[in-house]
Amino acid sequence: MVSIYRRSSMIVHQEQPLNAGPTPDILRQAITTPQEHFFVRTHGTVPNIDPADYRLTVTGLLSTPLQLTLDDLHQNFPIVEISATLQCAGLRRDELLAIAPIEDELPWGLEAISNATWRGVPLRAVLEAVEVDSQAEHVEFCGLDSVQKGGRDVGFGASIPLAKALSEEVLLAYEMNGEPLTPTHGFPLRVIVPGYIGARSVKWLGAIKLQRYPSTNHFQSRAYKLFPPHVQAPTADWESARALTDLPLNSVICQPHMDEVLPSGPTIVRGYALTGAGHTIQRVELSCDGGTSWTPASIVARQSSWSWCFWESTVHLHSGRHQLVVRATDCSDYAQPADLAQQWNFKGYLNHAWHRVNLRVL
Ligand code: MTE
Repeated sequence: MVSIYRRSSMIVHQEQPLNAGPTPDILRQAITTPQEHFFVRTHGTVPNIDPADYRLTVTGLLSTPLQLTLDDLHQNFPIVEISATLQCAGLRRDELLAIAPIEDELPWGLEAISNATWRGVPLRAVLEAVEVDSQAEHVEFCGLDSVQKGGRDVGFGASIPLAKALSEEVLLAYEMNGEPLTPTHGFPLRVIVPGYIGARSVKWLGAIKLQRYPSTNHFQSRAYKLFPPHVQAPTADWESARALTDLPLNSVICQPHMDEVLPSGPTIVRGYALTGAGHTIQRVELSCDGGTSWTPASIVARQSSWSWCFWESTVHLHSGRHQLVVRATDCSDYAQPADLAQQWNFKGYLNHAWHRVNLRVL
């Protein structure tokens, strides 16, 4: 089992490969997460890439295969910036682990998420340059890292539907918050697929392939698929399960923390909320009595529709035990589900039930 420990600002689930994210207080400090606090999710090695030797190949069902240097990308394509939140599908797995065991997965809490301003080339511009064949339906991304599974190197890859790849928000990013990507975040080039689970935003991008079918890479065809609560790993039908795409509507309480002891009187409750599919958060509501009564929280910061928003609310708590609960509703009037048990799945993905924090007030 992986041990978890805290550096002052990061919760570290694993050192090699590095898997870590900021503590809830640090996470909630800035709407744009500084690179040094941005969560890191790595399955294998961090490749050491010399930018002078770097080439991105674009092949498959298209008329004009390309091999691009970093200079080609900088000089021959439009450059855009977008604020977007990256979230790992394993966010809030620790709550699902309290219901039933989940094998061989990291016990992420609230920290598998961060938000940045990304700068790079719209993927659409590169796809226009290669003249995509009408038979192509999926765009595969191949990373340059090595990932060992069952004694062999399976690499890291993912794919997204061509329609999403042609949308204006999908980027080939080389900068994060005005600085070059750091090695852990994908230097020199990564994909950013706003609104989708983080696993589709492939780091250390080496190749793009236009194809009829989704990627057969392990991380598209086996991992990052969603199963209902009654399915267990030995009986899982991997072929028919849905590969995860859009992030679900979610909201969490970052402050105060679980089991915190507080003085009675006013308390500021703070958290984040987000949703995928380009939707926006319409409202966030807070309950101080376990979900019986609700009051609206204020949205205090938001960027693009691909970014999380920050919310807060001041509550007056008298002495005793309380359970704070948060829930969000999006612009299509869809609200977060209440029941945590219904979210359980044997991989521990996409928990987006109401988030609860127990407190003792003196
Ligand atoms: N890309 C490669 N090549 N290798 C990886 O291990 N991890 C993915 C994705 N891209 C990964 C990858 C996952 S699961 C997530 S959640 C995001 O990168 C995390 O990006 P970050 O480490 O920059 O936060």
